Amino acid sequence: MTPQPPRELASPRAFVLFGGTGDLALRMLFPAFYHLERENRLAADLVLVAVARSELAPEAFIASVREAVIGRLAPETLEEAAWNRLATRLRYLSADMTTEAGAQGLAALIAGRSAPVFYLAVSPSLYAGICATLAGAGLNTPESAVVLEKPIGRDLETSRAINAAVAACFPEERTFRIDHYLGKETVQNLLALRFGNLLFEPLWNGLSVDHVEITIAETEGVGERLAYYDDYGATRDMVQNHLLQLVALVAMEPPSSLGPEAVRAEKVKVLRSLRRITPERAGLVAVRGQYTGGVSDARQVGSYTEEHGSPSGTETFVAVRADIDNWRWAGVPFYLRTGKRLPERRTRIVVQFKAVPHSIFGPQGADALVANRLIIDLQPQEDIQLTLMNKRPGMGIALQQLPLSLSLTEALGEGARRRIAYERLFLDILAGDRTLFVSREEIEEAWAWIDELSEAWAQAGTAPKPYPAGSWGPAGAFALIERDGRQWHE
Ligand code: BG6
Repeated sequence: MTPQPPRELASPRAFVLFGGTGDLALRMLFPAFYHLERENRLAADLVLVAVARSELAPEAFIASVREAVIGRLAPETLEEAAWNRLATRLRYLSADMTTEAGAQGLAALIAGRSAPVFYLAVSPSLYAGICATLAGAGLNTPESAVVLEKPIGRDLETSRAINAAVAACFPEERTFRIDHYLGKETVQNLLALRFGNLLFEPLWNGLSVDHVEITIAETEGVGERLAYYDDYGATRDMVQNHLLQLVALVAMEPPSSLGPEAVRAEKVKVLRSLRRITPERAGLVAVRGQYTGGVSDARQVGSYTEEHGSPSGTETFVAVRADIDNWRWAGVPFYLRTGKRLPERRTRIVVQFKAVPHSIFGPQGADALVANRLIIDLQPQEDIQLTLMNKRPGMGIALQQLPLSLSLTEALGEGARRRIAYERLFLDILAGDRTLFVSREEIEEAWAWIDELSEAWAQAGTAPKPYPAGSWGPAGAFALIERDGRQWHE
């Protein structure tokens, strides 16, 4: 199958942001639009409509977006010309979008714009109601599209209900389930690396790969999102989506094309092959943690309990060994970990290859022999390194390990701007290209796996293990990998 050309949405357009005054919109979404504006990538007739419940004068809303964009840009400064162009696109609607009156207000505001995009950055519990009122007001035209932010549901049952309710109003081809990790440059580079080179494919399996590690570490705490986070925890907030998407991209079979159906079909097969974590296995392969007070980002920070105001059973850290039961990956563990208040911000995929079967370098050389490793850094640096053994210059044959590096920083030049992942995804939405969006089946398979893990923890009835802020999680996270004779790659 050849890639489908992106289908352009009809003009004139409206991009309607529900939750338009929320944390995500201000921190990420509007700054992403600002950059697209600055690069002249937005159609002249596009308007951006923020919808939220708060009564807010349009000028006050525009001022808050400006402040958020400036905050995100620092230390760079705002380009006034680009900002002015963006500001003229901005509209604000104060409305309750689960009511008919709300939908009518929106309909009036975007009247004549035949291809609206409805972007839902609100609590997933509102998705069904909002879609139903949009449909009730006839806004789900054939050219319209709906975008769903993660998390879609809190478990398999709720995600199925949401997906079904959305599907009753918007066809799957016009439904974009966003996982912003798929918009990150290095995630797409992973596809280029795997499928643009012949070298890796023959080695990309259990015959040559010892294990894979994926870490998403954050230094921040839960911050302002406590109510949401306490209900979800690290497993539902990060593993169900971002981490499992990375697993799927690393582990999938080569798709026949970069078309959305081909890529999504391969990813879902990986998710279906994940070995379920039964209550008997959970204690060995999964660990939950919660931060206590400590030093993070060079400052003293409080515990999760203090932020929460009382003890909570929610995990802020999780480490889990995932096994993929298929021919390619049998016997190759995928170690996943993520957490808040860890020592550094780092998102890294490590593909650890096996050692050479026999060393010809004598006892000294054998000591220096280190198995090859492919390190894919998503953030803060965007970098891909393959460590290779090579000869130390000079007499004799002494070995040393050196990286072959594909550094994006070097390629782009120091100081080059890192794109916000949403920039790429917004353009794809406007062009109707769903390749970097998640299918309903993927979401539901991921929830099925997470539900069993959550159920195993619920049955065990154990609280998350404490870990000091600024550390790499509870001792159990180390035991989990060391039990297999391996270590986290630090
Ligand atoms: C979000 C999570 O999806 O991803 C947040 O809800 C998390 O808790 C964020 O902080 C991390 O994204 P990034 O791009 O900063 O790694």
